[in-house]
Amino acid sequence: MNKKMLQESQDALLRWYETNGRHDLAWRNTNDLYHIYISEIMLQQTQVNRVMEHFYPNFLAKFPTLASLSQTQEEDVLSAWSGLGYYSRARNIHATAKLCTTGELPHTMEELQKLPGIGRYTASAVCAFGLNQAVAVVDTNIARVIKRLFSHAKNDEKAVLKDAESFVNIHMPREHNLALMDLGSLICTPTNPKCDECPLNFTCRAKESPELFTHTKKTEYESLELFLGICIKQGRIALTKSEGRMYKNMLTLPNIEPLEEHYITSFKHSYTKYRLTVKLYKVEELACEKVWLEFDEVKNAHVSSLTKKAISALEGCDL
Ligand code: ADE
Repeated sequence: MNKKMLQESQDALLRWYETNGRHDLAWRNTNDLYHIYISEIMLQQTQVNRVMEHFYPNFLAKFPTLASLSQTQEEDVLSAWSGLGYYSRARNIHATAKLCTTGELPHTMEELQKLPGIGRYTASAVCAFGLNQAVAVVDTNIARVIKRLFSHAKNDEKAVLKDAESFVNIHMPREHNLALMDLGSLICTPTNPKCDECPLNFTCRAKESPELFTHTKKTEYESLELFLGICIKQGRIALTKSEGRMYKNMLTLPNIEPLEEHYITSFKHSYTKYRLTVKLYKVEELACEKVWLEFDEVKNAHVSSLTKKAISALEGCDL
């Protein structure tokens, strides 16, 4: 792209963003680096609306600063993350808070990427959105826009990053990257993009490569059955500290070998690529280490949505 075209494209993008961008998102209306960092970690695998309405305000009400996060126990962070899934994210933000002994996140891409759970994307988002640094933010939406704009027939991440960098508006990097993000999610969608509404239509090279408009990646789901033990004594239910990678250090219902005559109920649950059928069975004894909780206490403990769903499924069952 020549210099004149570059400037015209950047200007057209910013004009479009001014009237069409998602300006009401809370993390776009703060320059608190820690808040922006938390939003980016949450948004990695969770939809904007769920983060906006629930998780982001609640989490920051509990842990308003990086220092407050560093002073808490990991299990309190896991409780605050309960329902968001991908719990390694919660363990990583806690570890990051403890490593930032000044109470502040570093201000460079390089230093940020040394922290647990912060890769190139998160570091670039913190630097661009929080510090207005001239770096290219490349998430899946932006990568698609760049691929189409510059006609990348192949899936070459390095080449996409290079073009994204060449396209950064060095005068307004924050708005530029947010605009590209919104363009990708609202206009330049994976299928049926609204090219006639696109501010970059005049310079987009995707017309030369129609394969850039086809969406080939299909998520492969895996069906699994899960057998969980329900052990109740004196009105309390036994949970156990998970050793598994996904739910490490969270409280979960124990996995058991099922006995059909002790079957209680079942429900469906989706988690990442898994489509689970969760079956609950009564058990008298459990060999594992246990934490006994009142039913009411479970919803505020460091448990996953699956565990909360299991507790709800037990309502009205003969236990
Ligand atoms: N605004 C800033 N970062 C964002 C993200 N990751 N998703 C949606 N909107 C955002």
